[in-house]
Amino acid sequence: MTSLSTPWWQHGVVYQVYPRSFRDANGDGIGDLAGVLEKLDYLATILGVDAIWLSPFYPSPMADFGYDVSDYVGVDPIFGDLATFDALVAAAHARGLKIIVDYVPSHTSDRHAWFQTSRASRGNPYRDWYVWRDPRPDGSPPNNWAATFGGSAWEWDAPTGQYYLHSYLPEQPDLNWRNPAVRAAMADVLRFWLDRGVDGFRMDALGRIMKDPLLRDNPPNPETVGHFHKELGEYDRQLHLNDQRHPDIHRAIRELRAVLDLYEADGRPRLAIGEIHIYDLAELGSYYGGALDELHLPFNFGLLKLLWAARAIREHVDAYEAALPPGAWPNYVLGNHDEARIATRLGPENAPLAMLLLLTLRGTPTLYYGDELGMEDVPVPPERRQDPWGKRVPGLNLGRDPERAPMPWSPVPNAGFCPPGVEPWLPITSNLARVNVQSQLDDPRSRLTLTRRLLALRKSSPALSTGSYRSVDWPGASDACYLFLREAGDAAANDGGVGKRLLVALNFSDASQRVTLPDGLRARPLLSTRLDHDQSDILGTLDLRPAEGLVLALLEPAT
Ligand code: GLC
Ligand code: CA
Repeated sequence: MTSLSTPWWQHGVVYQVYPRSFRDANGDGIGDLAGVLEKLDYLATILGVDAIWLSPFYPSPMADFGYDVSDYVGVDPIFGDLATFDALVAAAHARGLKIIVDYVPSHTSDRHAWFQTSRASRGNPYRDWYVWRDPRPDGSPPNNWAATFGGSAWEWDAPTGQYYLHSYLPEQPDLNWRNPAVRAAMADVLRFWLDRGVDGFRMDALGRIMKDPLLRDNPPNPETVGHFHKELGEYDRQLHLNDQRHPDIHRAIRELRAVLDLYEADGRPRLAIGEIHIYDLAELGSYYGGALDELHLPFNFGLLKLLWAARAIREHVDAYEAALPPGAWPNYVLGNHDEARIATRLGPENAPLAMLLLLTLRGTPTLYYGDELGMEDVPVPPERRQDPWGKRVPGLNLGRDPERAPMPWSPVPNAGFCPPGVEPWLPITSNLARVNVQSQLDDPRSRLTLTRRLLALRKSSPALSTGSYRSVDWPGASDACYLFLREAGDAAANDGGVGKRLLVALNFSDASQRVTLPDGLRARPLLSTRLDHDQSDILGTLDLRPAEGLVLALLEPAT
């Protein structure tokens, strides 16, 4: 049984729903909140996750599919209305599911009333809610900052003769978080959703909220390869030292966190997750806050970005565990709406191992919708491309449409995502016969069965949900394998039952590997990525098939 002494977000698993792509209840080809409502039993009971994070469903011109918010306190008619949202929260809570909503603090839509007013004249009170600057004497932008989505981060506004800053699209002007009125208004946004019962926030592009106050140029990037995990072109040619993560950001995050903490007086923990792309583990650790008073979970994108090899993954996990401030809780992301799907990145043969790793490491896992089925990226023909990033930076394959394909529910036309005869906003997977919830539910060897069994094991095992983590080096273990122990707090008083001391053994290679267990150690296989393992106890040697991962109960003390 899961320990009740830890907050839900430590022993729970977060599942990301991209609402446009999950389930279309009203038949217009675009997923909606009523569609999510229909699928709550799947999430809570059949799959067995603990929380859903909903990507933005707020009113938006959809230049960046909802990450351009024109009203922070409403629901876009494409997705439903506030009453549907309230019903969703109530129905989720009735099933023990938490609701985490996306919070987009770095920028609004250019259609937001704040920006409309801000751009109307130089002298109006909203002017300073955004970042406006005069051109340089030659008329060029105030500095060299590049937008993530291509081109300069500055857009010329002819009527008022100034540039405004946009870290992403020109349709996404950056808010000025140095203005106390902005911080107060954005804290009100948190309160609005907390008052409607949400359990937490995933804070988008959070590193962007504090820049160098002098807006100094970024220095050039001396590396020939991008320092980001994917080649972003022009954006990679500078080091992003001044356009994000200014040290003042920590104070701003503490202010946001304090809003959540006040709500916890009712005894329900609220969760602050932050999306900040940081690869330096000490810096990542700093976002928990010196007094653990910033983010509960600064997203750790390590598993998405690393070379898929035992040593690289192990070194990352060990270094991350070591870099965590005392009391900080780890987390791992396997996929999201911005990255190629795991089965595409690693190949379908390695994806089960990745899922087993995600769901057995110490820390909160974030699972992207469809990955539980082994869904792969779905190619999108040029005439159906949607993502502005791919359209603005041609040639680099940056479009994120392939990982946003509709969730396949059943092997029928349009996959049970939307009615047959309606064109879904993105194409349905061509692997539908194999990759859909209904067919995989009845198949004891399916990816969905594996995910469900891993989630159930995690939930029933204190060692997996909240226990300690320790990687082990046993003589004779191949370099292709990564072995770690998960132990519940009272493992020393092990009564011989399974579940308190676990060994996770992962073979990252495409060949069979043999692991020699320490003398006298007896281990009982509980779950294999192959779902067909021998159940008898193992003494001496443990054989792992290609790309196999195995969870074993340890029945005698490990040395
Ligand atoms: C984040 C989101 C991404 C969005 C961007 C701008 O990186 O995850 O989808 O396009 O911020 O809001
Ligand atoms: Ca719809």
